[in-house]
Amino acid sequence: MLTDIHDPAVRSRALDALAARGVRLPTFAELADPTTIDPAIAAELSGVDPDAPHPRNLFRVHWHNDESRRGLSPVPGHVVLPSVVTGVDAPIVVLFGDRFPMIGAHKVLAAYACLVPRLVTGRFDPVEQRALWPSTGNYCRGGVAISRILGCRGVAILPEEMSAERFEWLGRWVVAPDDIVRTHGSESNVKEIYDACASLSRDPRNVVLNQFRELANHVVHREVTARAVERVHAHLAEGRGSLRLSAFVSATGSAGTLGAGSALAKRHGAKVVAVEALECPTLLANGYGAHHIQGIGDKHVPYIHDVMGTDVVAAVSDRATDALFAVANDPAAAPALDRRGWPAAVRAALRHFGFSSFCNVLAAIKTAKTLGLGSDDALYTVATDGAALYPSELPRIRARLFGGAVDPAKAEAALARHLDGASIDHVRELDHQERLRIFQLGYFTWVEQQGVPLAEFEARKSRTFWDELPSRIPAWDAAIRAFDDELRARAR
Ligand SMILES: Cc1ncc(COP(=O)(O)O)c(C=O)c1O
Repeated sequence: MLTDIHDPAVRSRALDALAARGVRLPTFAELADPTTIDPAIAAELSGVDPDAPHPRNLFRVHWHNDESRRGLSPVPGHVVLPSVVTGVDAPIVVLFGDRFPMIGAHKVLAAYACLVPRLVTGRFDPVEQRALWPSTGNYCRGGVAISRILGCRGVAILPEEMSAERFEWLGRWVVAPDDIVRTHGSESNVKEIYDACASLSRDPRNVVLNQFRELANHVVHREVTARAVERVHAHLAEGRGSLRLSAFVSATGSAGTLGAGSALAKRHGAKVVAVEALECPTLLANGYGAHHIQGIGDKHVPYIHDVMGTDVVAAVSDRATDALFAVANDPAAAPALDRRGWPAAVRAALRHFGFSSFCNVLAAIKTAKTLGLGSDDALYTVATDGAALYPSELPRIRARLFGGAVDPAKAEAALARHLDGASIDHVRELDHQERLRIFQLGYFTWVEQQGVPLAEFEARKSRTFWDELPSRIPAWDAAIRAFDDELRARAR
């Protein structure tokens, strides 16, 4: 549970170190509802750059940052994709992750959630230990940002083929160059990341915060992200009571974000849709392979994936996500969007979409077609990060899919093929046997390879296991509040 105080001396050292840096810590409840954040802290925030390693930015690790990313928005930033864009009657609603502070992606939320229960209970020593953040690029940046604020060493462990923008960002934020560990391959080479962690963690000063394994990652999305989706839904349903929250769609890396689906399924009967790259169809077909949808598809079933609570698996090709990313970001494609009559609000929102965002949208379209969803069925998903993280990928895509250059006719052909052509292929509604197949695939990673005890692994088959997890939040929040009270007292 990580709620009892493990080592009072470590906790006390953490308090001294954090107080000296002026750190204060938000609770999970505050991140779920930032209007409850202490007004004195909210006032301080207005003068803080959202992309600076400033301690108050911890209080911006939520979905309610406004367009400027400095103030609060009562409804989380989102865009509703209408049928003129998607070709389906069901509205597809995308929440913007690039409004999160420091890294422009919501993975900083997962990083905070994985570290803070350890920090406030004396399980992590920010003075003596280094935090290791295994990731395909955004979680490790979130971890490095949190580490920098706390004044501890944070080590990013990521595949060497991730985007140049990620490495540039890391170069600016790590304390020492050897705090970036490049492992072999691309986003689907997670085994290599684990191997690097295993080797580094032989040194007790290195603490691995494994997002694929830490239940706090599931829990934080189950609480914070699900509440954000519900707030958007309540906003859209105002004056339109017939609108249902019918599905939550998320391409899975760690499957943390998909945790929001577990809450939305329970409270609204939403279908939970896990998405992966067609070139690496692990959930769909026990498959493997490399792909270009950065951040997802890690060739294994994460420990924190609530497989038995997943209703649909959908796979999307990286040719489709590459093509749509280029059409959205290459000015030469604009006439094609004009001709299709895409609304200005959608055009303006495209800058919030990275590759996995297009993947989520395409999967939502495929889901709407597969399940026969209509205009009263809203599908919710996230744009984990935005286009700003990937300009360096455009030349590759132009060469790969557009014969070297995008033009309006090629853009229209790409839209016809990949957007209009999004079909019910490679979508599977899961019955019990199919869920079991995916669940059992996880055995090889977690029990055989990573040494998780069998009984612990199998406990995750039961609904009770997952439904009891949110009860950790009040206990974690109490521990955070107690720690934060002491920080405040030391600051006086
Ligand atoms: C760009 C991007 N999209 C999607 C995901 C998947 O999110 P999750 O790890 O919560 O499944 C990640 C995770 O790192 C990501 O970086």
